[in-house]
Amino acid sequence: MHKQQILIAGCGDVGSTLGLALTAAGHKVFGLRRTINQLPAGIQGITGDLTNPASLSGQLPRCDILVYCAAASNHDEAGYRAAYVGGLANVLTALPAAPRLLLFTSSSGVYHQADGSMVDEQSPTEPDRFSGQVMLQAEQLALSCGINASIVRFSGIYGPGRNHLINQVRSGLGAPALPEHYSNRIHRDDCAGVLQHLINLHLQGEALAPTYLASDDTPATLHEVSQWLATTLGVPINTNQALRRGGSKRCSNTLLRASGYRFIYPDFRAGYSAMLQQLPPT
Ligand SMILES: NC(=O)c1ccc[n+]([C@@H]2O[C@H](COP(=O)([O-])OP(=O)(O)OC[C@H]3O[C@@H](n4cnc5c(N)ncnc54)[C@H](OP(=O)(O)O)[C@@H]3O)[C@@H](O)[C@H]2O)c1
Repeated sequence: MHKQQILIAGCGDVGSTLGLALTAAGHKVFGLRRTINQLPAGIQGITGDLTNPASLSGQLPRCDILVYCAAASNHDEAGYRAAYVGGLANVLTALPAAPRLLLFTSSSGVYHQADGSMVDEQSPTEPDRFSGQVMLQAEQLALSCGINASIVRFSGIYGPGRNHLINQVRSGLGAPALPEHYSNRIHRDDCAGVLQHLINLHLQGEALAPTYLASDDTPATLHEVSQWLATTLGVPINTNQALRRGGSKRCSNTLLRASGYRFIYPDFRAGYSAMLQQLPPT
């Protein structure tokens, strides 16, 4: 496969995992973030602030593929808009030439459904919170910028270092059985795997869909997940309370699977089992 120049803008947990895999596959990878000393060896760092056009001007390499996977560090509306809409616009302006492919990482937070129904790429998106609304604006920018682009909507990312739910269960908290609250997740390694899979399809000459919903094979209720974790950890659940905000829905990955992707961690049991093996005993 012809060696590609790939820029990962917002090269954090998912971006670095992807970058290492792409480097191993022989591509040249640039990782842009504000603190490049946190990048793994093999990814060429570019120091830049996506919200500051002056910091990007003249700094970006010519690239074949742009992966935009920055995450907002300020969680108010202005912070979201700056990171997702403004940041993407700033990178597109600063690039010396248009890439042949843009992958933009979005979120299942664009869906408003809260009745446990199944959602896919065709489902309506009418989020009532600014986070979903701003993400939809960024998606529209990516899809209308004139570059061949695909949106990848991740559900809740879990994996190494993301121990919040494990710690909640360890402290005796669980989610109630009712009202039923479906949750959806994707392991960090599958986030990177999905992005690499789509890049490979593109390099094989296949046309990508405008949007992919990237979530594992098995939506599960938070009650089921917290009960399983408690049993596996051997700890009691003393208090049941709502552990998450957000609507109850079930994310379908049918389109992604039809494109040939197979999940490394197809359900929460597989992903959390791997995580628990890496955790030090308490
Ligand atoms: N967390 C979830 O459950 C979830 C769910 C759905 C979708 N997503 C999306 O998935 C994508 C990947 O997330 P992740 O877990 O890899 O996030 P992450 O580990 O927090 O990485 C985000 C990266 O963005 C960089 N960044 C943030 N603001 C920047 C700025 N102004 N200029 C330059 N770089 C900036 C950060 O580096 P510096 O701080 O060094 O700049 C960091 O390296 C994101 O788009 C996120 O919104 C996340």
